[in-house]
Amino acid sequence: MNTAMRLAGIDESALVALAHSLAGPLRDGAVVYLRGELGAGKTTFARALLKALGVGERVKSPTYSLIESYRVGALDIHHLDLYRIADPHELEWLGLADLATPSALLLIEWPERGGDAVPAADIEVCLQHAGGVRDLEVRATGRGSERITRASAAASAATRS
Ligand SMILES: Nc1ncnc2c1ncn2[C@@H]1O[C@H](COP(=O)(O)OP(=O)(O)OP(=O)(O)O)[C@@H](O)[C@H]1O
Ligand SMILES: [Mg+2]
Repeated sequence: MNTAMRLAGIDESALVALAHSLAGPLRDGAVVYLRGELGAGKTTFARALLKALGVGERVKSPTYSLIESYRVGALDIHHLDLYRIADPHELEWLGLADLATPSALLLIEWPERGGDAVPAADIEVCLQHAGGVRDLEVRATGRGSERITRASAAASAATRS
């Protein structure tokens, strides 16, 4: 994993804006880990991303359901929260590996709880409490790096115009 982006002290609206700038490139599919302690902003990021992708319905947190799935055009999206998984075997029924087709977008909160059952990440969004705001780091590998590069280009083009 290479660090692709680092932002210190961002408030919720900056986090939402970042999620919006990643929506275009992530439309082609990716496995995205959302890391951070309780309340770090993982669901906030996911919700903003899903809205930007065109998920019209109210975006529920998968805290209790484990998984919430959406389809936008040809894109299958799965938003997972593995916090309540005590043992990775509990995930077998989900068939996570089968959900992670090359064109699907997986957003996974608490990926470390899923052990080997969780497909490898293309992108990791890591959030940390920093007073009332958050520090953020985006890491990427392989096709994830290519997606992030495109997102940065789009974001700087937007600020120039
Ligand atoms: N960048 C930010 N700055 C300040 N507050 C934020 C920021 N992002 C999110 N929040 C607030 O933090 C709270 C927790 O956010 P959220 O539910 O997204 O966390 P989470 O990481 O998904 O937590 P959990 O591990 O419980 O699923 C919410 O009240 C949200 O409005
Ligand atoms: Mg959450």
